Amino acid sequence: MTDEHERTGKPVIYLDNAATSYPKPLPVLQKMLSTYMQFGVSPGRGGYDLAVEAEALVSGVRRKTARFFGSSDPDRVIFAANATDALNLVLQGLVQPGDHIVSTRLEHNSVLRPLHHLRESGIIEYDLVPFDGSGFVDPDAIARAIRPRTAAVVVCHASNVLGTVQPIEAIGRVCADRSVPLIVDTAQSAGVVPFRMEEWHVSAVAFTGHKSLMGPSGIGGLVLAPGLDVRSTRFGGTGVDSESPVHTQAFPYRLEAGTLNLLGIIGLSEGLDYVLSQGLETIHAREMELLARLRDGLTGLGGVRLYCAEDLSGHVGLLTAAVRGISSQDVGTILDADFGIAVRAGLHCAPLVHADIGTLPHGGVRFSTGPFNTPADIDAAVEAMAAIAGA
Ligand SMILES: Cc1ncc(COP(=O)(O)O)c(C=O)c1O
Repeated sequence: MTDEHERTGKPVIYLDNAATSYPKPLPVLQKMLSTYMQFGVSPGRGGYDLAVEAEALVSGVRRKTARFFGSSDPDRVIFAANATDALNLVLQGLVQPGDHIVSTRLEHNSVLRPLHHLRESGIIEYDLVPFDGSGFVDPDAIARAIRPRTAAVVVCHASNVLGTVQPIEAIGRVCADRSVPLIVDTAQSAGVVPFRMEEWHVSAVAFTGHKSLMGPSGIGGLVLAPGLDVRSTRFGGTGVDSESPVHTQAFPYRLEAGTLNLLGIIGLSEGLDYVLSQGLETIHAREMELLARLRDGLTGLGGVRLYCAEDLSGHVGLLTAAVRGISSQDVGTILDADFGIAVRAGLHCAPLVHADIGTLPHGGVRFSTGPFNTPADIDAAVEAMAAIAGA
């Protein structure tokens, strides 16, 4: 997608879709505007028709979201601000003092920092399982890390640095055998890789609306399995049980406090419709075709190194590169300033991945494809990288 940048008039080649998808499909934006104009009141807070319709709309999106992730319980779809918010809600609401958590060195700070905080607060201990040289976590390594007090296993579905899709179904079997809840961060996979929550024995899915789900920023959430007992860690108005000083314990209100992001929920709904109408497999296949073109182009360049990209099967549409002798931040700046190419350079909020692939302290340059990229975008990126690397 090459577009005139509205503010600067500069053409922009946007290859930072792993940060957030851009642009959003026009029907998503149009539907947000028209529906919010029509029903933009506080859902579930009033008996008048508009509030009832807004509540019905929200319930419909809970049903759609549950179905999308392979859950049959829409009452356990909780709306939150994003995946980070959702991960905080489930982690902080699940653990008890003395508990242990198993996670991985692939995780984003949205998992690492809540875990660190809980450990520093003296509440939990945790272990992080390594990934192999191709960027995958071994389910047996997860099994070995589980202890009697392990309260949950937390794994990203796809790495936001390496693009590798983790074997959630096999990890789910390991967790089910040991009766340990599995929490999956689908920030990089939802919208491109199908998810089967119940079939794969997943207890909690954290999702974000603004990446491959093609919605706006500010909406995300959790889908919880029926048995998972997550305590409220935020308290306030829910629109029900108002006479009680105790926060409503029925789901989904238990984990929601205050007025919902209705505009975001409408956008999420339209984003889900968009990806379902295109087909996840189709979107993924297209993004991977572009990624393979990029990988092939960059592979031939002297001085450019790629990480875990030799075999792109089991990946989503992103890869990380580094240029010998030039810091990744500088590469990112040159790509932007000289070539009008937007990428994400640095540590990508996943410092342990960079530690393990040997790209500290500067990190790497991440290219990520989206539904609106074209082969010409990829060719421009390869040419730019060739010029920067002096290849
Ligand atoms: C793997 C992964 N997890 C979690 C997040 C957090 O998503 P959000 O910023 O929408 O909360 C990201 C975002 O970059 C991510 O890549």
